[in-house]
Amino acid sequence: MYRTHDCGALRIEDLNQTVTLAGWVQKNRNKGFIVWADLRDRYGLTQLVFDEERSPKEVFQKAQSLGREFVIQIKGKVIERESKNPNLSTGAIEVLVEKLEILNPSKTPPFTLEDTTDGGEELRMQYRYLDIRRNPVKEKLIFRSQVTMAVRNYLSAAGFIDVETPYLIKSTPEGARDFVVPSRMNSGQFYALPQSPQTFKQLLMVGGLDKYFQIVKCFRDEDLRADRQPEFTQIDCEMTFVEQEDILNQFEGLTRHLLKEIKGVDTPTFPRMTYEEAMKTYGNDKPDIRFGMTFAELNDLAKGKGFGVFDSQELVVGIAVPGAAGYTRKEIDGLIDWVKRPQIGAKGLIWVKCNEDGSYKSSVDKFFSESDLAAWAERSGAKGGDLIFLLSGETKTARTQLSALRMELAERLGLRNPEEFAPLWITDFPLLEWDEETQRYHAMHHPFTAPKPEQLALLKTDPAAVRANAYDLVLNGNEIGGGSIRIHDQELQSQLFDLLGFSKEEAQAQFGFLMDAFQYGAPPHGGIALGLDRLVALLGGEETIRDFIAFPKNNSGRDVMIDAPASLDEAQLEELALKILPKTKE
Ligand code: AMO
Repeated sequence: MYRTHDCGALRIEDLNQTVTLAGWVQKNRNKGFIVWADLRDRYGLTQLVFDEERSPKEVFQKAQSLGREFVIQIKGKVIERESKNPNLSTGAIEVLVEKLEILNPSKTPPFTLEDTTDGGEELRMQYRYLDIRRNPVKEKLIFRSQVTMAVRNYLSAAGFIDVETPYLIKSTPEGARDFVVPSRMNSGQFYALPQSPQTFKQLLMVGGLDKYFQIVKCFRDEDLRADRQPEFTQIDCEMTFVEQEDILNQFEGLTRHLLKEIKGVDTPTFPRMTYEEAMKTYGNDKPDIRFGMTFAELNDLAKGKGFGVFDSQELVVGIAVPGAAGYTRKEIDGLIDWVKRPQIGAKGLIWVKCNEDGSYKSSVDKFFSESDLAAWAERSGAKGGDLIFLLSGETKTARTQLSALRMELAERLGLRNPEEFAPLWITDFPLLEWDEETQRYHAMHHPFTAPKPEQLALLKTDPAAVRANAYDLVLNGNEIGGGSIRIHDQELQSQLFDLLGFSKEEAQAQFGFLMDAFQYGAPPHGGIALGLDRLVALLGGEETIRDFIAFPKNNSGRDVMIDAPASLDEAQLEELALKILPKTKE
């Protein structure tokens, strides 16, 4: 038996027991006549004592050779510590070692395996298995497991069946590029890894399974961000004979359950906002509603007063920043520079200080009177002591820029409290999005999303105006889920493919299987997928998903530990009928 207890188990009540423990040497202190070592495992730390007088001679000698991260097994007696450590669950005791077995020595680790480490990101990723020994990393993985289990239990109790769908498939359009896998047996042909199990879950509904879920890996070849990984995990669900309302209720239930079970938080009914309203009031379809600073549109109050910057633009929009009237010129200039960075791309920023005494001071005093500024303040809800920022431009651009500024200000003002949870539903997304570059429509969610039934006729006359039965679940400014009611009618599905620019042949080649299935009694159905990595990170109080993934990819999509992706040798390339063409000079 390797151990009688784990390293977090022993207490003062266990005094005088003889125990066997196994683990890693976190650190040791050698005082010459006495050696202390901290023994660590997943569950905690236990202090070991090797004493010249009280431990057997050979054990005391062997203890001299212990180094950091050696794996050892010891047998010894639980004794009371002289100086107790109240911060440690085992801090009242130590184990006087009688037997020591070195199970495996260790090289000195390349960084310290303490809660705060001296290891840089890249080094820690290269030795991720060592990083995982550190509490903050280990705890995030345990936390993820708890969330995953809670999800499984909830959905299973609600009658959902966990079904696995294949990973070697054909392209599923979710808007990113596919990762592809060459087929050896079908020379020159490729599988695509699923961007989501979308088509399969719909086929499971045609198959009559009624309620499906899967905690499933999805693969998307897209640029990485803090909340994006090329392979990530979805809580993927689909239900039959449901309307949008049924799905929102079911998954609001799941989210509320998780908030309660994992965070102990009671959440009231989630607010709902249409896409239109979200864009207008927050400039964003995933608004963070933990704080105000909602948008005030000021066209009627700010245009036509001779200020060219506003007059020539489609939209003048502003936000009131609470308590920021005291910002110095330098601070304001810093923010102006911030919005002018290419990532945001604003031309400038107009500001109005609303002084406590009711007077105003702005960067456009030349063009606007005090009463103009007072009207802006009223519209934007600014009070004495607040600062108003205004942007103008093409509607969508100005909104996006002001939304970025709003989030930045909230961050700087400490308004994004990670322990506060503000979920909401965004509904009524447009069905289609016009893409200037390709001069065609794209599905805003995916091509299987159903238009609102009452707007079907608009599909022929004004497709851009059609809203979809599509919804997103947003938490603290992050999109944690998205779904829709699906098209279950073959005619309508082929009309949609048509609108999206697929020829009959292309649609048949890519999605023939789905359209065939729709001819065999496809029931009305719909579903949703939640991003598990994002959900776990947010519940854990963070927005970067990487830390909650055991072996994540870096910003260039590389796994630096196993050094992937990597090239293949000639023989393997040949077997797969792949040839790497030499790079041609530009
Ligand atoms: P969608 O594309 O909106 O919907 O994805 C669902 C959720 O998955 C998460 N997500 C990601 N998380 C980490 N890294 C990524 N690269 C990444 N991409 C997406 C987000 C997102 O809300 N098949 C549909 C669902 C449906 O219609 O039922 C789908 O995949 O949290």
